Amino acid sequence: MLVNSPHADADLPVAEIRDGAVELGGRPILRGIDVSVRRGEVLAVLGANGSGKSTLVRTMMGLVPTVRGQVRLFDVPRQDFHDWHRIGFVPQRVTAASGVPASVREVVASGRLSRRRPFLPPRRADRDAVEDAIAAVGLTGKARDGVATLSGGQQQRVLIARALASVPDLLVLDEPTAGVDVSSQQALADTLRTLVLRGVTIVLVAHELGPLGGLVDRTLVMRDGRVAYDGPPIDVFTDADPFHVHHGEPGRTADAHTPAVASPLDLTHGREEQP
Ligand SMILES: Nc1ncnc2c1ncn2[C@@H]1O[C@H](COP(=O)(O)OP(=O)(O)O)[C@@H](O)[C@H]1O
Ligand SMILES: [Mg+2]
Repeated sequence: MLVNSPHADADLPVAEIRDGAVELGGRPILRGIDVSVRRGEVLAVLGANGSGKSTLVRTMMGLVPTVRGQVRLFDVPRQDFHDWHRIGFVPQRVTAASGVPASVREVVASGRLSRRRPFLPPRRADRDAVEDAIAAVGLTGKARDGVATLSGGQQQRVLIARALASVPDLLVLDEPTAGVDVSSQQALADTLRTLVLRGVTIVLVAHELGPLGGLVDRTLVMRDGRVAYDGPPIDVFTDADPFHVHHGEPGRTADAHTPAVASPLDLTHGREEQP
């Protein structure tokens, strides 16, 4: 079963960045980052393309080094953390609309976050975890099919199943809805809802939330490598594309540099409305 056992550290953050700064390729990418992910919450990381969402969550998971500040995972300093099986990571897909594609190292790193010991045959627990993970994303009937024959949304669920197979306490998904049809997004929302009930903490990177919006407990908005908002779920405009109309306050103009706060999250959050 994919049930996570209760831990003594129930109130401690599962991931934390304190006064964090990140440079990539000699360029400052993130600055002044103070983020704490609480156990059991669903945190949405929103923001325009290039605002630093992927870098933020990679830093949170200890996959990107900081030039300043502290990263803690399950209340352990990143350099002392070894329980990688507690973290499941579904990287941004190469085919996702924009952003930096997942590198080989990144994909390998995501595979490393596993309970399976190398060079040893799978144990019963390993096989059960795999079957449970496939069932959790609703692909039991497709278990024997080649991934290439699946739709984009189904392939996305395969990646999620790969992350779930290690029965993570923290599941990080980078743009899981990008390029995925709405019915697959709905299936993903149902899967994630089940995980939330099992006590899994979820960090969800999105350009827009779609059907996943109803799951979110807290929203963080990135802007130019900084946290521009961290609080209750909100609706934001993050896209300068005039053809990409989001719902929100009538008459408010989308602006890539000014995430606009609109109504609090409700059950219809994230759904496209006719302008
Ligand atoms: N490996 C890298 N080397 C240099 N710059 C990078 C690298 N990865 C990302 N960046 C830059 O960092 C900024 C933030 O990127 P990213 O975190 O991918 O943003 P988002 O996920 O919000 O689209 C962008 O300007 C991007 O070009
Ligand atoms: Mg990204």
